[in-house]
Amino acid sequence: IPEGVNLKAEIKRLCKEKNAVILGHFYQADEIQEIADFIGDSLALAQWAAKTDADIIVMCGVHFMGETAKILCPDKKVLIPDLNAGCSLADSCPADKLAEFIEANPGHTVISYVNTSAAVKALTDVVVTSTNAKQIVESFPEDQKIIFGPDKNLGNYINAITGRNMLLWDGACHVHEKFSVEKILELKKQYPDAAVLVHPECKGAVAKLADKVASTAGLLKYAMGSEKKDFIVATESGILYEMRKKCPDKHFIPAPPEDSTCACNECNFMRLNTLGKLYNTLKYEWPEVKVEPGIAEKAIIPIQRMLEISS
Ligand code: 13P
Ligand code: SF4
Repeated sequence: IPEGVNLKAEIKRLCKEKNAVILGHFYQADEIQEIADFIGDSLALAQWAAKTDADIIVMCGVHFMGETAKILCPDKKVLIPDLNAGCSLADSCPADKLAEFIEANPGHTVISYVNTSAAVKALTDVVVTSTNAKQIVESFPEDQKIIFGPDKNLGNYINAITGRNMLLWDGACHVHEKFSVEKILELKKQYPDAAVLVHPECKGAVAKLADKVASTAGLLKYAMGSEKKDFIVATESGILYEMRKKCPDKHFIPAPPEDSTCACNECNFMRLNTLGKLYNTLKYEWPEVKVEPGIAEKAIIPIQRMLEISS
């Protein structure tokens, strides 16, 4: 990056010049959320990508989000500031292993969380996010046999609230698994009136402490509508940027991970994206997210199905 460059101004200028749009997830660093044209949860990012008329989409999130945008917009250039921005949850479900699991359990509908590779989506009947998982699972008859993956915590939570008995893949997110009951109870002692907000990727014992279990967008909406003043937030701490912006009079406390002295729980993959990388990505139109056409052709079907059900 040349010295003295005003990164924010240059990013804006390049976006205009190239008809590019910056989509950012709620877990991005504050300065990226500040400059993005749109920020949202995984579902909103996919919905936004599906309808944009920009020539270039810069996905400030992780790789599967870029893949989803590319699958929905095969003729657009989809860029991501750092190709190493992966996802431990997506990695916990390799496509060849899922294919074996499906073969070993015939007669099941396959429902996959959006946090999966394009190759996994190509094996899937319908994709879900944490915003629409309950609605989509309930759109199937009660006696429908379902394989749900890769997040076992989200799967267990959906089983509990719908009374279903879906067969679960044994995967998890390394960030959300780190929230601990003890640390949240300690915070509750300090802030007895606080509402506890929990993402469903957290372990069941943590979800049991929650006043609200929901996706990032769902937790934000709950905080905006709540009478409470204090909120203990058990999800990636990037969401606090938008919570504080939308609710300046409320107090948001990030729940810490169990094993560290750090007050926040950040996703190392999400945080690989920086303003400097974003600038270079726009300038050089690189790195680009590519999806093999044979895979994309299959993967678009369950993604479209999700968008139709949740529209
Ligand atoms: P949502 O934004 O859909 O709640 O997902 C959280 C997440 O972990 C994305 O990687
Ligand atoms: Fe993946 Fe977890 Fe990071 Fe979300 S927070 S991108 S699920 S590793």
